Amino acid sequence: MNKEIVLTGIKPTGTPHLGNYVGALKPLIEQSRNHKTYIFIADLHALNIIKDPQEIKRHTYEIAAIMMSLGLDVNNSVLFKQSDIVQVYQLATLLMNVTPKGLMNRAHSYKAAIDKNIAAGLDEDAGINMGLYTYPILMAADILLYDTDVVPVGADQKQHVEFARDIAGYFNHIYGKTFKLPESIIGESTGIIPGLDGRKMSKSYDNIIPLLAPEAELKKKIMRIITDSKLPEESKDPDTSTIFQLYKHFASDVEIEEFRQQFLSGGMGYGTAKTILFDKINSVLSKPRAEYERLMMNPSEIDKVLETGAQKARIVAEKTLARVMKVMLGK
Ligand code: TRP
Repeated sequence: MNKEIVLTGIKPTGTPHLGNYVGALKPLIEQSRNHKTYIFIADLHALNIIKDPQEIKRHTYEIAAIMMSLGLDVNNSVLFKQSDIVQVYQLATLLMNVTPKGLMNRAHSYKAAIDKNIAAGLDEDAGINMGLYTYPILMAADILLYDTDVVPVGADQKQHVEFARDIAGYFNHIYGKTFKLPESIIGESTGIIPGLDGRKMSKSYDNIIPLLAPEAELKKKIMRIITDSKLPEESKDPDTSTIFQLYKHFASDVEIEEFRQQFLSGGMGYGTAKTILFDKINSVLSKPRAEYERLMMNPSEIDKVLETGAQKARIVAEKTLARVMKVMLGK
């Protein structure tokens, strides 16, 4: 068991899709086999966008059930809800006092929101709440609270992890070494996972394939993948084909090579290729899907796992917060 502490948060703002699985969830589950891994559902971070509690709750259960059914080792790892740990709200408030306002002004997501307002001819802060503005401080609290060494995230979150490191540095400079300096690891090795239209699979492009949707829905989505208009007998380019790019993440090396040859040699229509892709993905996901469906019918089982996770997380959180209260307030 490696000693490094790994932590990441998943925002309950959408139903996880195949791109999330390949790029984030699968590597995370693999990592949990030999690292102490904290995975939490970042429900507090969803609040600046989602105002419907039932929606947050539903996505929270979905994410927890997905992690459990994909084989997350719940003994090696700590799966919990961010909002169950009161120390994170407390630490975020305390960290405000060492966080320069200018750092928040530089956050990509805040700047993007301003740019959007300006482009729409609105006041630059229109619709921007303090949850969005201070988002990086809460995220720093998440990371620093559990003595995290590494934070696996997508490239869009890299700056937030750097901010957590900066904030830890400012804090340590004033109060003496209190926090570890965390580092991000960016999951680049998987490359971009294309969605139905060939662009990066993303909720905002409305081109996703849900991860554990019922079989019929998975099939329907796959059959809708956009292709070029090559005829069955023509040779096709696997490297620009969404079908092939998705297949690569689910098949063995031998199968991938075979499928590549079928593309190149011609004789396989896109309809057939899609059926092959569907069969492959379905064979990998059918067991987790059954377990996922079972768990979603038994939410108390999910609650139990999340509660056990929160108990474990709280032990570390209490210690860290006590350390911080002592150096900041002499308590
Ligand atoms: N901001 C992250 C996202 O949008 C989610 C998140 C919240 C997170 N807290 C975190 C990720 C701490 C890593 C570490 O995906």
